[in-house]
Amino acid sequence: MNKTLLFTLLLNLSLFGSDGEILYKQKCQNCHGSYGQLSALGHSEAIMGWSITKVREALFSYKNGIRNTNGMGAYMNIKMKDYNDEDINELAKYISSLKKED
Ligand code: HEC
Repeated sequence: MNKTLLFTLLLNLSLFGSDGEILYKQKCQNCHGSYGQLSALGHSEAIMGWSITKVREALFSYKNGIRNTNGMGAYMNIKMKDYNDEDINELAKYISSLKKED
């Protein structure tokens, strides 16, 4: 990896916070909303306010293809296949910290 690339990566990490936050903002918030306040595609519960455990369980179950609460589990299955355990833990940590700013 060349130095400019490394520098850019580090800069991005420090500007945007945790890995979970980066992943969420890039890959999840379009459907789930910046604070997890939306029903994704009209087919999920709002995930804002969910505990780390609840989010982790949901994400691991999607990854393993055994969750389908609202008929759209296949969507989340395809997405979660890209994430390893650490990504899922970071995402769960970030999502459980989401609150709506007022
Ligand atoms: C294309 C839109 C879309 C994107 C992008 C997306 N989701 Fe989802 N998500 C859904 C849908 C639709 C459901 C409901 C699936 C079902 O029927 O079980 C869902 C369900 C969930 C649930 C469980 C909610 C419930 O109602 O049980 C969690 C947690 C979740 N998504 C997290 C994430 C995370 C984390 C990401 C980013 C890595 C993500 N989603 C990206 C559409 C999306």
